Amino acid sequence: MIDALGIDIGGSGIKGAPVDLTTGEFVGERYRIPTPEKSTPKNVAEVVGQIAQHFSLPKGTPIGITVPAPIVHGVASWMANLHNSWAGTNVNDLFSDVLGTAVSVVNDADAAGYGEVEYGAAKGQSGTVLVTTLGTGIGSALIINHQLVPNTELGHLVLPGGKEAEPWASAAVKERKELTWEKWAGRLQVVYAEYEKLLNPDLIIVGGGISKQADKFLPLITTNAPLIPAQLRNSAGIIGAAALAAKDSN
Ligand code: BGC
Repeated sequence: MIDALGIDIGGSGIKGAPVDLTTGEFVGERYRIPTPEKSTPKNVAEVVGQIAQHFSLPKGTPIGITVPAPIVHGVASWMANLHNSWAGTNVNDLFSDVLGTAVSVVNDADAAGYGEVEYGAAKGQSGTVLVTTLGTGIGSALIINHQLVPNTELGHLVLPGGKEAEPWASAAVKERKELTWEKWAGRLQVVYAEYEKLLNPDLIIVGGGISKQADKFLPLITTNAPLIPAQLRNSAGIIGAAALAAKDSN
């Protein structure tokens, strides 16, 4: 059964799928359109509209949309990896105007984290769970006893020595600089040590597309809490956004 539609806006693609919230699974095929080269709010919203239309869901189906930026009371505070005109945009108004219906907009890592806690690698886990996503950027979600603490933005944490985590240790940096797994894991070691020092989580989950290859780098990182790969990988954002939208609409 389709309970909600999730749409995940990323640096390279915008992906959507209807989700069954009992199982946390997609109902049918995911639909993906590349992110417009000029990734302004208007251009991206147009694509989001095409994705929603593709599924022609019954009126009133909750729609959750992720944006790779902190979303504070419906407004994107600033934007690191899409066009900088997103800063200060009321994204709730932007998407509900295009779609002609109310939507729930949430930070991409928060959605992925919520998805992992409800349906994935941290299902049933109580206490403090830190979910990180390694992709174009570094995203973070902090979930305490199933309650999301939104907009933690740990990818922009300045590490001891003065380097910011994201532009030094994201998966995109590994690719761009052709870092070996060992070299990259060395950087992630510094990042996760700092996260643990500040938050003392019970469990740390590593998501993003690269978590498919978790066996290549997670064993090279030492943490106090278990450090495990995400289960929902690239679907986590869609599933979490759909689940949060359904929750909002209740
Ligand atoms: C953004 C976050 C986002 C992360 C992953 C960061 O640059 O500031 O909001 O969650 O990238 O996309």
